[in-house]
Amino acid sequence: MLDIGALKSKFLSALETATSEEAIENLRVEALGKKGEISLALREMGQMAEDMRQKIGPELNEFRKSFADEIARRKEAFADAALNLRLEAEGLDMSRPARPRNHGTIHPVSQVTEEIVAIFADLGYSVAEGPQLETDWYNFDALNMAPEHPARQEHDTFYMHRDEGDNRPPHVLRTHTSPVQIRHMEKHGVPCRIIAPGRVYRADYDQTHTPMFHQYEGLCIDEGVSMANLKWTLQEFCRAFFEVENVDLRFRASHFPFTEPSAEVDIRCSWAGGQLKVGEGDDWLEVLGCGMVHPNVLSSAGVDPETHQGFAFGMGIDRLAMLKYGIPDLRAFFDSDIRWLRHYGFSVLDRPDLAGGLSK
Ligand code: PHE
Repeated sequence: MLDIGALKSKFLSALETATSEEAIENLRVEALGKKGEISLALREMGQMAEDMRQKIGPELNEFRKSFADEIARRKEAFADAALNLRLEAEGLDMSRPARPRNHGTIHPVSQVTEEIVAIFADLGYSVAEGPQLETDWYNFDALNMAPEHPARQEHDTFYMHRDEGDNRPPHVLRTHTSPVQIRHMEKHGVPCRIIAPGRVYRADYDQTHTPMFHQYEGLCIDEGVSMANLKWTLQEFCRAFFEVENVDLRFRASHFPFTEPSAEVDIRCSWAGGQLKVGEGDDWLEVLGCGMVHPNVLSSAGVDPETHQGFAFGMGIDRLAMLKYGIPDLRAFFDSDIRWLRHYGFSVLDRPDLAGGLSK
């Protein structure tokens, strides 16, 4: 005969001593599983005499139910405790500083290019581009440098290899950004106001020369543009770029085949204490070449020199970066030395704009 009291106390005390989720699960199977003791007892009731069944049935059912509930409750408690332990061990402290990450920097050439673009955008100039691999027509002939012109030799040009019998026009790595003048006027006509920053190439290598360097070209063509406009434009540029109120520029007569008259421009500076200061002192530093665009250049680009004229100028971007940020050796610009880049590079957030001051 089934002893419910014994069954109850057996499982209740077993539950009391079960100290893990696993032990409880084992107990559940033992008692309530398909072949569990309580399940079997309930099944056996079918064979019992009616009066016995009425007596034992409700109590056994009651116990099955309360025991199942208790098991579920205990299991949940263990699961909660385990979860709490895990949370404590793995918890994230959101107030802790993030792990340091390596950030790249913006190269001074890129930064200075952005500064130049920002300044000239403010003066109504847009940015134009041309290929680095040029025909010698765009690089020289169209710029009033005939094949026998001595300036052609002065440029230490890199010529592209040509197989014998290849009768395509000779190609060069552009020696300056001036060919963009021609390409731009050919395509978009005049009037125009553009700057054209980019890479240029000359076979030259020392502390202030690298075989690849950066220039930007300025070109302004309209009716009635004069040398005075050129002077004002360059003055405004230098003032904004070097961030000094007073810049003194010196225009020295010079010669470029593609401008007439031509000038080289020096900027007043001082080297007191080995530090370069722009706008004061008694030294002069050459910063650019410029002039009024030669009528032959306008004609090469399909512009009528009788109705339109204007000025052009060319500056070394790397040179400007060295001056403004006190970087002594040009060659280091292109060594990709991570320590140099960290030292002289700019934060990605340091976007040049005129309203906020160009450099922070
Ligand atoms: N192209 C010239 C150079 O590379 C610079 C220049 C540009 C001079 C435009 C006059 C006008 O030296």
